[in-house]
Amino acid sequence: MRQRTIRNIHEKIKVHHAPGSRLVTRPMEQKGKWQDRFVKPGDLCLELGCGKGQFLISRAGKIPEKNFIGVEGQPSVLYRALEKTGESSLDNLCFIEGFVRDPMDYFASEELSAIYLNFSDPWPKARHSKRRLTSPAYLKAYQAILREGGTLEIKTDNRGLYEYTLEIMESLGMEPELRSEDLHGEGHPAACFTTEYEDKFRKEGKGIFYIRWTRNSGASSS
Ligand SMILES: C[S@@+](CC[C@H](N)C(=O)[O-])C[C@H]1O[C@@H](n2cnc3c(N)ncnc32)[C@H](O)[C@@H]1O
Repeated sequence: MRQRTIRNIHEKIKVHHAPGSRLVTRPMEQKGKWQDRFVKPGDLCLELGCGKGQFLISRAGKIPEKNFIGVEGQPSVLYRALEKTGESSLDNLCFIEGFVRDPMDYFASEELSAIYLNFSDPWPKARHSKRRLTSPAYLKAYQAILREGGTLEIKTDNRGLYEYTLEIMESLGMEPELRSEDLHGEGHPAACFTTEYEDKFRKEGKGIFYIRWTRNSGASSS
């Protein structure tokens, strides 16, 4: 995500390290205990690569019975999300700073109810394919950390990433429950909560690709 670098970002972000802050400072220690991080128990929903947080902040506000976790690797970008939520009373949203390499370092088997990948970096060069958030290693990890009935939802403007994702899912026996090459044109409910990138691409007249997969007993969690 293009973002003006914020001067002294590491100092600024430290303000959010205070107890009770929305920034989780030792996220790996929460593995298997994420419910304890929230005031009320509720389905745990993760956005990997949450950017400035628009999607999660609006979901958390509209769906108070669920708990939301956003992960963002770029501190300057995450800082914007923390600033946006700083004054709000949302108690069902928290953030992790860091580039997640293995989601299973952070989440236990069947801990999550939903995972959102919104406009993930496409990493078009073959030599970078392992960095794609829908590479085989990531998809296997999502299968493991999603509970039975949990969903993986993917939005992208990038046809290459969309087609690659469908191909890898097929190779892993993950049959999409829903797929669309024009999410907004088809008026799907997933179009209700938009992201910063989604708004930008829609203004440019781009169509949005969408995939939803639900974990059911047929799915491998190895
Ligand atoms: C293109 S932006 C999209 C942001 C937001 N989801 C949206 O749709 O507006 C992708 C974001 O994912 C973050 N990201 C990419 N790989 C990541 C990873 N492995 N862990 C955490 N964040 C990641 C990037 O830093 C970037 O801010």
